[in-house]
Amino acid sequence: MDPSGQFDNYQQEAAAAIAAADSADALEQVRVEFLGAKKGRLRDLQSLLGKADKEQRPVLGKQFNEVKTAVTALYDARRAELSAPRASTSGLDITLPGAALPLGNRHPLTQTVEEFKDIMGRFGFTVASGPEIEDEHHNFEALNIPDDHPARDPLDNFYLAAAESAHGGPLLLRSQTSTVQIRVMEQTQPPIRIISLGRVYRPDTMDRTHSCMFHQMEGLMVGESVTMAELKTVLRLFAQTYLGHDVHVRFRPSFFPFTEPSVEVDMSWRDGWLEIGGAGMVDPNVLTAVGYDPEKYSGFAFGMGVERFCMRRHNIPDIREFYTNDVQFLRQF
Ligand code: DAH
Repeated sequence: MDPSGQFDNYQQEAAAAIAAADSADALEQVRVEFLGAKKGRLRDLQSLLGKADKEQRPVLGKQFNEVKTAVTALYDARRAELSAPRASTSGLDITLPGAALPLGNRHPLTQTVEEFKDIMGRFGFTVASGPEIEDEHHNFEALNIPDDHPARDPLDNFYLAAAESAHGGPLLLRSQTSTVQIRVMEQTQPPIRIISLGRVYRPDTMDRTHSCMFHQMEGLMVGESVTMAELKTVLRLFAQTYLGHDVHVRFRPSFFPFTEPSVEVDMSWRDGWLEIGGAGMVDPNVLTAVGYDPEKYSGFAFGMGVERFCMRRHNIPDIREFYTNDVQFLRQF
């Protein structure tokens, strides 16, 4: 075969092999076969030059160089192609460096709950929890709330139809976290120092300050000589830690079936007083109901609205903002 035809064959086959190489390894094998300097197809072509006639030699030499340059260029291009990062065909360039996506943040109420646990933890209170679906025993009876008490009115509670508790009565969504006081005392002996944070449910009409579901923080401390002085100190230190040292706390006489005496707790911070919850000394009837000796033990309890604190600190005017999940609101926290 004439050398010039062999050059053409070589070039065509090399081009096909380079195009077919679909990995760097495959391409390297093609390189060794077609462009290898010591042996291989290029070397064979070169030896043709030596055997050619004198007058043919310059023509063939030129052709040899052209073929070699062309194949080398194809090889270089393919190699660059194979080592380049691949872009996907969907229009999404997956080779671009990763940009940090805006991650979400925790809901302001979740942040508040975490902070409350942290603050109360420093005063020695551990976290207890109880079910949101409760029986009347834990929501009312054991808390000294009698059958005919208005708080038990079906219109003021979310009773669950056709559900019956282990205690025999109906089930309801708990209307207060005070239920957890009972659950803890039923299981544990004093000394007790717990808080419980969670949702409570009441069929209230929603407005700027009311919601049919909101959060409370319950606190309970029982021991051999717990007094109201400790109650006030804990509440004051708590409020001052959350809002600042310019917070004042005051008690107003009140009534709750499960505390005696009972107080409403108000807090002032910068302007005006705000009611933040109820508190008192655990009623002896409650201690007796869980099997404690009221002659030996005393304790205080309190229940506060979580939303109120968070609204006060951040100047949130409407409680409904917490539940509508508007990202423009949530992103601010
Ligand atoms: N459970 C009461 C309520 O939801 C708040 C409360 C008052 C809790 C006095 C207490 C307490 O622990 O001692 O309105």
